[in-house]
Amino acid sequence: MELAGRIALITGGAVRVGRALTLSLAEAGCHVFIHYGRSAAPARQTQADAREFNVEAHIYSADLADAAGTQSIIPAAIERCGHVDILVNSAAIFLDDDTFGGADEVLWDRLFAVNLRAPFLLSQAFAAQVPADGHGKIINILDARLRRPAPDHFVYRLGKGGLWTLTEMLALELAPRIAVNAVALGAILPPPGASQSYLDSLANTQVPLRRAGSPELVAQNVLHLLRQDFLTGVVIPIDGGQFL
Ligand SMILES: NC(=O)c1ccc[n+]([C@@H]2O[C@H](COP(=O)([O-])OP(=O)(O)OC[C@H]3O[C@@H](n4cnc5c(N)ncnc54)[C@H](OP(=O)(O)O)[C@@H]3O)[C@@H](O)[C@H]2O)c1
Repeated sequence: MELAGRIALITGGAVRVGRALTLSLAEAGCHVFIHYGRSAAPARQTQADAREFNVEAHIYSADLADAAGTQSIIPAAIERCGHVDILVNSAAIFLDDDTFGGADEVLWDRLFAVNLRAPFLLSQAFAAQVPADGHGKIINILDARLRRPAPDHFVYRLGKGGLWTLTEMLALELAPRIAVNAVALGAILPPPGASQSYLDSLANTQVPLRRAGSPELVAQNVLHLLRQDFLTGVVIPIDGGQFL
């Protein structure tokens, strides 16, 4: 797919990995519709930075824990941009109290709503507006830790596991009109509140390539997947070999 002139919707596109995806898509010539939750000021900054690449950039807030809020996003993008060619499901939550013993039904519902139901609902609405003779692309952001079973971040893993399966199911369901691919991230950015040196020392001991990744590296791989026209159902691990 030629990216220049396409319209891309990025969930959680204002900060961190999502921001890098937004700016790389803008640099490649895509008009960007930047979804955010609470990060209003960073969203305005990312919008301004995207416009530096001479593309249109819109911002829109919706709570992905809320089904109606989630279902408002694609109509809002269509209203402002006419249609959407590319959907990137990057927004997610990752909680410290997410253990087998500590997770209650409130945590379960919130994690599943944001990390799995929202990409599902957005994919439904996205697919419905791609014309019968059109071509769309969906990219899901997964977690490479799923390559190795472990009980940390218990419900998060279950939700991202569902999103991994959804990636493959939608690749079949939506072919040939829409290609659905994913990247599965390892140590890319420290969790909010932790330092880069925390991530670097973790990478030095646990990552075979002995370094952490970066949001820009994630974006390079996402752009690669978007440009390819014979790939669907593919998941690229971006983890330096950590979960082999
Ligand atoms: N960082 C890593 O090293 C790493 C590793 C493995 C996987 N990943 C995956 O990569 C993706 C991006 O990671 P990240 O570290 O950049 O994420 P992050 O810092 O945790 O940011 C999460 C994003 O999701 C949005 N979000 C969360 N809950 C929301 C809600 N209820 N409604 C609307 N938006 C909501 C946030 O928007 P607002 O800030 O606007 O509220 C934010 O943009 C995620 O899917 C994550 O699971 C990241």
